[in-house]
Amino acid sequence: MAKAKTSKVLPHDLVLRERVGSVAWLTLNRPEASNALSRALVAALRAELAALAAQTDVTAIVLTGAGGKAFCAGADLKERLGMTLDETRAFLDDLGALVQALEDFPAPVIAAIAGAALGGGLELALAADFRLADNSASLGLSEVQLGIIPGAGGTQRLARLCGIAVAKELILTGRRIDAATAGRLGLVSRVVRAAELKPAVAALCAELGAGGPLALAQAKRAIDSGFGQPMPEALAIERRGYEAVLGSADRNEGLRAFAEKRPPRFRGK
Ligand code: COA
Repeated sequence: MAKAKTSKVLPHDLVLRERVGSVAWLTLNRPEASNALSRALVAALRAELAALAAQTDVTAIVLTGAGGKAFCAGADLKERLGMTLDETRAFLDDLGALVQALEDFPAPVIAAIAGAALGGGLELALAADFRLADNSASLGLSEVQLGIIPGAGGTQRLARLCGIAVAKELILTGRRIDAATAGRLGLVSRVVRAAELKPAVAALCAELGAGGPLALAQAKRAIDSGFGQPMPEALAIERRGYEAVLGSADRNEGLRAFAEKRPPRFRGK
């Protein structure tokens, strides 16, 4: 299938967006500040996600950073210097809402990590469904070294993803780890050479694109909502997800396509 490619790039855009077929690539675009999360960048990302959530033809989102040297260096510490405590609280609320919107996004979200993913930058990536890194990546929740703690879900999501021992080791030391170590710990699912990051992400997107969009959304929700629940409740969540796809046109199309020995054409309905 031919891939439609559209992009819109203005020099001052904080978030670059590009559609490659049904995949939306969002690029944090403050390379001069290591793509640090200013208030404006958080607001811009939230707006982009809200707009994408309204588009039913998006089968995956890729989040990445401009410039190649940093995925995202966390909260903008220079901006933070001039903020009151209440402004900082408001920022944490906004960043938390952004991270939650990523986690709740119905289609799979992939973080493509080159360079530094630190503090809030890693917390963004932790809310993604997949993390792929190139071998320049450096990852850490280094907040304690600034006298603070992760404030956008890092203590919880890292512990759920890699276990409590790994979370304590990384968060309490603030240690930055390289891509290979992150791969060993399961913090990233794949480590590739720099030139291979984009193709590897595109290949994953193509794989994901073969699934029914409703099925992907329900499977993602079932895994996320069921995890940590007692098994009977977790299985009930899975069953509710199954019910949601049971009457769908996509489910009928999947069965028909199997019988007719052809690839299915899902419409997300
Ligand atoms: N907030 C604001 N600006 C940041 C930033 C942040 N979190 N992280 C980096 N920058 C800025 C630097 O100040 C520098 O700007 P300048 O040229 O105006 O001084 C620019 O990004 C490039 O950073 P630099 O350190 O020169 O590049 P580098 O490639 O050697 O290192 C990092 C990049 C991200 C590894 C390094 O800057 C760093 O460790 N930043 C702090 C990350 C951090 O502690 N984040 C918060 C965790 S809670």
